[in-house]
Amino acid sequence: MEIAQRFSQVNESVIREMTRLAVQHEAINLSQGFPDYPPPKAMVDAAVEAMRSGLNQYSFTWGYTPLRRKLAEVYSERLGWEVDPDEHVVVTCGTTEAIVAAMMTVLNPGEQIIIIEPAHEMYRPAAVFSGAEPVAVALEAPDYRLDPERLAAAVTPRTRAVLLNTPHNPTGRVFDDEEMAGLIRVVLKNDLVVITDEIYDRILYDGRRHICPGSMEALRERTITLGGFGKTYAVTGWRLGYGIAPSHLAAGLRPAHDFLTICAPTPLQAAAVAALNLPASYYERMTEEYHERRDLMMSILDEVGFVANRPEGAYYTMADYSHLPIPQAEWDSVRFARWLTTEIGVAVVPGVTFYGLPGYGHNTVRFAFPKRLETLREAGRRLARLRQ
Ligand SMILES: Cc1ncc(COP(=O)(O)O)c(C=O)c1O
Repeated sequence: MEIAQRFSQVNESVIREMTRLAVQHEAINLSQGFPDYPPPKAMVDAAVEAMRSGLNQYSFTWGYTPLRRKLAEVYSERLGWEVDPDEHVVVTCGTTEAIVAAMMTVLNPGEQIIIIEPAHEMYRPAAVFSGAEPVAVALEAPDYRLDPERLAAAVTPRTRAVLLNTPHNPTGRVFDDEEMAGLIRVVLKNDLVVITDEIYDRILYDGRRHICPGSMEALRERTITLGGFGKTYAVTGWRLGYGIAPSHLAAGLRPAHDFLTICAPTPLQAAAVAALNLPASYYERMTEEYHERRDLMMSILDEVGFVANRPEGAYYTMADYSHLPIPQAEWDSVRFARWLTTEIGVAVVPGVTFYGLPGYGHNTVRFAFPKRLETLREAGRRLARLRQ
C-alpha cells in the first residue's frame, strides 16, 4: 500500500533529527529552538492549580474563555481595532497548528502561497497539506533583506497569500519599514492575504519594537496574525498558539482548528492567562537576558572563525563556516552539521534545511541560543577545538 502523494513533497524534519543525534552523542543541542531554562513559576503554579481545581475537560473549541478575553485585550491594543474574543480569536495547539489552519483558511487546491526563504521547515508541508503550492522567494546572505522586486516577480494568477515571519527564524532579521512598505505594495496590487507568524514578537534587540503587520491600515482586513506562548514563556512542550483574524478570515480559522484538534489543553490555557498577566518587568528581564545570550553566542562564533549575522530579533543566527579548517573542504551543510554534532559535540541545523530553493543555504548552519549562559559557554569550549 502506498501512502498519499503529498508526502513525496514532504521530508522528515531535519531539526528533529539533529535533536535525536544530539541526544545520542551527548552534544549540546543548539539545533532545535527551545530554552533550557525553566518557565515562569507563576505559570507552572497556575497550570497545576487549574488541573487540581478541575479544569481537565475540553475547553470551548476556540479557546478557554478567560484566555480569549485576555488575548482580545492584548491584541485590540496591538492591532488598533476592536478584537472580539468570541469572533476573532482562536487558541490552537502551538503556532504550528495555527499555521496549518490559516493556510487551510485561505488556500484552495492548486493555489500558491509565497514563502520567504530561508524559512521554518514546517511552512512548505503546511502548504502541501492544504493542497496548495509553496513558492519560494529567497533572502540573500549575508544581509537577508526582503526584496520587493523578487516578491513581485514570484506572483502568478494563482498566488493567493504570502507568509511573513518577523522577527525571523533562522536569520534573526526584523524586517524594517522599507521592506514592509515593499511587501504591502505587492500584497495590495495582487489582492493577497498575509499570514504573519509573530512567535518571536517579544524577543527583540537593541531597542527595536515589534509592529504587528495586521495593525497597518492597508493590511487590516487581509491579515491573519499568529503567535504562540512556547518561546516567550519557555514552554515549547505545552503546545499553545493562537490566531487573530477579522471575521471573514476567522470564519475559516475556527472550523479548521475545531476539526483538526477540537481545542488546546485546557489547564495550560488557564496558565497562559497567568503568563499574559505577568508584569512588564518579566519582559524587561527576558530582554536583558537575551542580549547577554546573543552577545555571548556572537563572540563565541566570532572567535572560532564563523561569519555570522547579528540577530535583530528571535534567538537564531545563520553562521557561515567556509573559513574554518574542517576535515573536508567540500562538505555540504548537512555533512558539516552532523560532524559538528558527533565529533565536536555541538548540534546545529544545516543551512540547506531552510530552503526549498536549490543552490541556497550552503556553507551555513543555524545556531539557536535560547540557553543558559553556562550551556553556551560549554558550547564555546567545545567549538574552540575548531580554531586551530
Ligand atoms: C518561526 C516559527 N514559527 C513557528 C514555530 C513553531 O511554534 P510552536 O512550537 O508554537 O508550534 C517555530 C518554532 O521553532 C518557529 O521558529
